Amino acid sequence: MINFLKVAFFSVLMVGGFWGYSNFGIPQIKPAPPPVEEKLDLGAMTMDQFVALGGTIFNGKGTCTLCHNKMGRAPMLDKIGTVAPERLKDARYKGTAKTIEEYLHESLTKPSAFVVAGFGKSGSNDTESPMPDVTGGGIGLNEAELAAVIAYLQDSGGAEVTVTIPAMPAAGAAAPKAEEAAPLKTAQEVIAKYGCGACHKVADQTGEIGPNLTKLGATKNKDYIRQALLDPDAVIAKGFPGGMMPKTYGEQMKAQELEMLVNYLAGLK
Ligand code: HEC
Ligand code: HEC
Repeated sequence: MINFLKVAFFSVLMVGGFWGYSNFGIPQIKPAPPPVEEKLDLGAMTMDQFVALGGTIFNGKGTCTLCHNKMGRAPMLDKIGTVAPERLKDARYKGTAKTIEEYLHESLTKPSAFVVAGFGKSGSNDTESPMPDVTGGGIGLNEAELAAVIAYLQDSGGAEVTVTIPAMPAAGAAAPKAEEAAPLKTAQEVIAKYGCGACHKVADQTGEIGPNLTKLGATKNKDYIRQALLDPDAVIAKGFPGGMMPKTYGEQMKAQELEMLVNYLAGLK
């Protein structure tokens, strides 16, 4: 009996070991599952749950934290309740929003309607925002997800939550589902969506925290670049801080997008 248990235990260990190896040992670049496929059962949701859903989208599918983080490449949003009314009074404000909720909606869907001073694309004199339209192809939030994110921003930014949870569609109508965004079409779109330009000089972006990538292909091959994206800490570029580059690209990017990006960067000479 003891022997049987030993053998059984050993087999479990082996199988577990291989399972672990195949799952964690081999870098996975299978097409990432849609990052957060939230089941939107809106009818049954309380406002607290709706706000929490917004937080999940903000930190996941929305990719907001790639730019809105402590590194200062995009404004922090934790005081947006007091900041938004000031934006609306700004002499440069030319948008159409009248309320905090409208300002947030506009910021998310027409980022260039008002560009926070000092945060515009370089050379645009703060008339063009580096932020993508979050309902566009890259991030692809639908109306319900957008409303949830706005509710979250109001709640976490010290404003009254004025968003109403979108009504449940009539029975039989298709539920608003978080559709998987189609893969991006160009490497430039991938760079914009994943915020590489916040830290790197690449495409038309001018980040300075990481190495300049505009001639990367002259010294680095595709394998090196792929590894730099999937496992950024494997090799730390000389003269730059390790641990800064997000480690989540391997999960977030579709395999197709990753390869397009690798080919693009390897071609920059
Ligand atoms: C590629 C980087 C990037 C991503 C991704 C991004 N943003 Fe932004 N965002 C910016 C920058 C830069 C600004 C400041 C320039 C401007 O006003 O448009 C900004 C401005 C804003 C503003 C206005 C802030 C203010 O102080 O007036 C809001 C609100 C906002 N973003 C929310 C979001 C949310 C929510 C998401 C995710 C769904 C998101 N952003 C994704 C870069 C980004
Ligand atoms: C938060 C800042 C940040 C973001 C966002 C970021 N990187 Fe980086 N990246 C760095 C830093 C810092 C280094 C240098 C340290 C290291 O090698 O990890 C680096 C290193 C690299 C390298 C290796 C360069 C070399 O010469 O060895 C490549 C390639 C790269 N990044 C590509 C990208 C791409 C493409 C994106 C967007 C998908 C991106 N990075 C997003 C900060 C960032």
